Amino acid sequence: MSRRFYVETYGCQMNAYDSQVMAGGLERAGWEPAACPEEADLVLVNTCAVREHAERRVLGRLSQLAALRRRRERPLVLGVVGCMAQRLGADLVAATGGCVDLVVGPDQYDRLPDLAAAAAARGEALICTERDHGAVYRAKPRTAPPGGSHFVAVMRGCDNYCAYCVVPYTRGRERSKPWRQVRDEVADLAARGAFEVVLLGQSVSNYRDGDVDLAGLLERLHDIPGLQSLRFLTSYPTDASERLLRTVAALPKVGTELHLPFQAGSDRILAAMNRRYTVAEYEAVLDRARGLIPDALFTTDIIVGFPGETEADFAGTLSVVERQGFASAFTFKYSARAGTRAARLPDDVPRPVKEERLARLNALQSRKTRELLESQLERTLEIVLDEPSKKRETQLRGRSRNNLRVIVDRAPGLRLGVRVRARINAIAGTTLIGTLAGEA
Ligand code: SAH
Ligand code: SF4
Ligand code: F3S
Repeated sequence: MSRRFYVETYGCQMNAYDSQVMAGGLERAGWEPAACPEEADLVLVNTCAVREHAERRVLGRLSQLAALRRRRERPLVLGVVGCMAQRLGADLVAATGGCVDLVVGPDQYDRLPDLAAAAAARGEALICTERDHGAVYRAKPRTAPPGGSHFVAVMRGCDNYCAYCVVPYTRGRERSKPWRQVRDEVADLAARGAFEVVLLGQSVSNYRDGDVDLAGLLERLHDIPGLQSLRFLTSYPTDASERLLRTVAALPKVGTELHLPFQAGSDRILAAMNRRYTVAEYEAVLDRARGLIPDALFTTDIIVGFPGETEADFAGTLSVVERQGFASAFTFKYSARAGTRAARLPDDVPRPVKEERLARLNALQSRKTRELLESQLERTLEIVLDEPSKKRETQLRGRSRNNLRVIVDRAPGLRLGVRVRARINAIAGTTLIGTLAGEA
């Protein structure tokens, strides 16, 4: 009987992509995907270390899987991969009461099939977290991945060393994938039915392969047949160059929603975070982008309760959100990570204060999201239909170039990947409701 694997993914889009890399490697080595952990011989948990909460969730899940491993007669190899594997290495074995058989860091995924076989054969845990600052991966799943939208990592690692962040330690040095390799990967996905590709990097605006920067990469991917939409994440705000913004504006398939994390609305806190910009410089980037890209929308990441954050600092964060009207924001309570620079500072904002600031921030952002959606009523948006509606069989969802989500009724001839026009007449939660106004 063939061996079967199951991968469970936590954390960011990079991890979602890496899970495809690992699945592809295992499939080529003769493993087959299992439908659930119970049916698998190898379970990999792809982990995130960015906040303590993320790690606690993974540890909870590992203890459930360890119980499965104990009660089952057939052997189960339990592997931990991803950022927690890199951060904790052999300590993970102790942290899970000896139930982990395999620990593999993100630079070693090419060796995973061999390591999994070796772990199955030996009695003690196998730890493989060596660094390889040259490793860039290509996801080559044997079975066509489902759905129309796919991530493609174009960079790995991060050299920014924001004071709070564990990623440079778990992901290693920044490196770019050769542009031809990216092009082949995207062309491959498009040939298998993908109509959207999201290019990934922790700091993707730094992409560089020889003379080819991120703008040059977008130009080289834009005309791949079948592709309807091309997006990228995440830009370090002040690295989003004028050339990049002009290229986004000029290439019609490139999405005009930009993810530009600002983290904090106080210059003092930004400096302590080792972010290389002031609030004014950040807002100038958004102004410049709006000037060059007519329908630009922005999303962002924000941390509340960084060491030393006062009520006045936090008021600065609220006022950036009030002024800028982000389409959405990912908001986090500061979580000290061992080994980072900020971990040496006293984590002095009490937890109830962090929670109260987070609640106020989220309430403000919800109001701003609502205002943005209301401003779309009566407008006609061009959307690419991208998935069946989660709520109703009779409806499809699409997304506009600036990534607003729009639900329309199914109609004959409509299928996923098609570009249509929709007139917006209602709002449901964070989604717009439209009626079809013809093919685009
Ligand atoms: N490379 C991306 C994303 C990194 S992690 C970027 O630079 O934007 C995603 C988000 O998690 C960060 O933007 C930050 O807002 C948040 N984050 C990172 N470390 C954190 C920590 N120690 N505590 C709380 N939030 C954190
Ligand atoms: Fe972390 Fe900063 Fe790098 Fe983003 S840019 S991954 S927040 S160190
Ligand atoms: Fe988490 Fe690693 Fe991504 S720490 S956010 S999975 S790069």
